[in-house]
Amino acid sequence: MKRILLVAALFSAAVSTSAFAQSLFETEVKARQGLMSIMRINMGMLNNMDRGLMEYDADQAQAMANAVLGISMVDFVGLFPEGSDSFEIETTKAADMIWENTEGFAAEWAKVQMAAPDLAKAAGQGKDAMSAALAGIAGTCRSCHTTYRLR
Ligand code: HEC
Repeated sequence: MKRILLVAALFSAAVSTSAFAQSLFETEVKARQGLMSIMRINMGMLNNMDRGLMEYDADQAQAMANAVLGISMVDFVGLFPEGSDSFEIETTKAADMIWENTEGFAAEWAKVQMAAPDLAKAAGQGKDAMSAALAGIAGTCRSCHTTYRLR
């Protein structure tokens, strides 16, 4: 009987810890995915202007680039606490590599932070200037996703 109670106690402890972890990291997962979605919207419009699918507009391009710059200032790496991986959380595409090589992951985000100010400087200065700066940041998305995001 004692043993059954102990097992029951351990089981409920395990269940409540994982439920706690789930609700704890839900905020971080939503935040990092939301941040990436906003990034995609802004980069997507700049890409469309670059490819001529949308007419280049200096004010609009500047606004998008400002948003990208703002996003780059967020501590993205801090939104990946230990345990917020795809084994623990169904909805995330964060690869284990993030925790195996956190420095490498941080270095990828630093590339965004290096490129975003150039984009913000150039975006309103004409289509060619915008396109050149856009190329500098577009590669950072792929570079990180290849290693640190699950397909
Ligand atoms: C430092 C690494 C890194 C960089 C740089 C990066 N991403 Fe991501 N991105 C991720 C990771 C990791 C995920 C998966 C997050 C998750 O599911 O918890 C992700 C997910 C996404 C998603 C899916 C969001 C969702 O709703 O699930 C989009 C869209 C995206 N990234 C766009 C971009 C764009 C555009 C850029 C470049 C401007 C970019 N990312 C740069 C790491 C990065």
